[in-house]
Amino acid sequence: MDPRPVDRTHDRVAGDSSAAHTFTDVAGPPPFVIALDGPAASGKSTVGPAVAERMGYFYLDTGVLYRAITLAAISHGVALDDGEAIAHLARTVCLEVHPPTRDDGRQVDVLMDGQDVSLEIRQPAVDRGVSAASAHQSVRAALGAPQRGAIRAPGTILAGRDIGTVIVPEAPLKVWLTASVEERARRRSAQTGEDLAAVLGAMRQRDHVDGTRAVAPMKPAVDAVEIVTDGLAPEQIVEEIVALARSRGAPG
Ligand code: CDP
Repeated sequence: MDPRPVDRTHDRVAGDSSAAHTFTDVAGPPPFVIALDGPAASGKSTVGPAVAERMGYFYLDTGVLYRAITLAAISHGVALDDGEAIAHLARTVCLEVHPPTRDDGRQVDVLMDGQDVSLEIRQPAVDRGVSAASAHQSVRAALGAPQRGAIRAPGTILAGRDIGTVIVPEAPLKVWLTASVEERARRRSAQTGEDLAAVLGAMRQRDHVDGTRAVAPMKPAVDAVEIVTDGLAPEQIVEEIVALARSRGAPG
């Protein structure tokens, strides 16, 4: 069989769900999935793309979906406790994720109904609201199918909070990336220039909401490999994940 690469020029990952499953049209062995979970600023978005590059895999930071839907709710005046209304947005708004076209700190281009929201989804208002918007079962259900639909051969790294526990529990490699909250706040504050104490407070609050929500709480899968990243160079973590993946039969 001919496992042809899939054209990623138009990566619609959510909304208009009639198109959400078109990414799985690949032949050959099933794609190797690496579930990369962990709290904010634990290193997922540094390490994930680097592992993807090394192995020729597709990388999706699922946080951008939750952030984009939170932004959509805020800009449509939808209350963040109105799960049904947010889920409706998640089903109808067209979200696309593309490689970055600008060198302004963005990791990816995120388009919402064709509009570039790559920077807006990182705004403090989204940071403050995203955990509440993400806690609804209906919202998580609406964003689950596009996450699974984004999986493609030869392999895919999905970064998030519940990839190993809920979205792809059958993933052959699950990594739980973590670090102390102080270290994570230092990293985020260095990235954004925000006040360290404010970042630390907001991060503790987000960890708490994400970790204690009733639906798909942030936690390591029982069979996840935990990597504590305090004091580790990104290259060391990348090496470890690539080695783990290969030891489990990953192509690439
Ligand atoms: O970039 P950062 O590490 O700060 O967070 P993110 O990965 O962009 O995720 C933002 C928020 O989205 C998280 O705090 C969760 O509330 C939610 N999220 C989630 O619930 N499930 C995911 N798979 C990814 C993100």
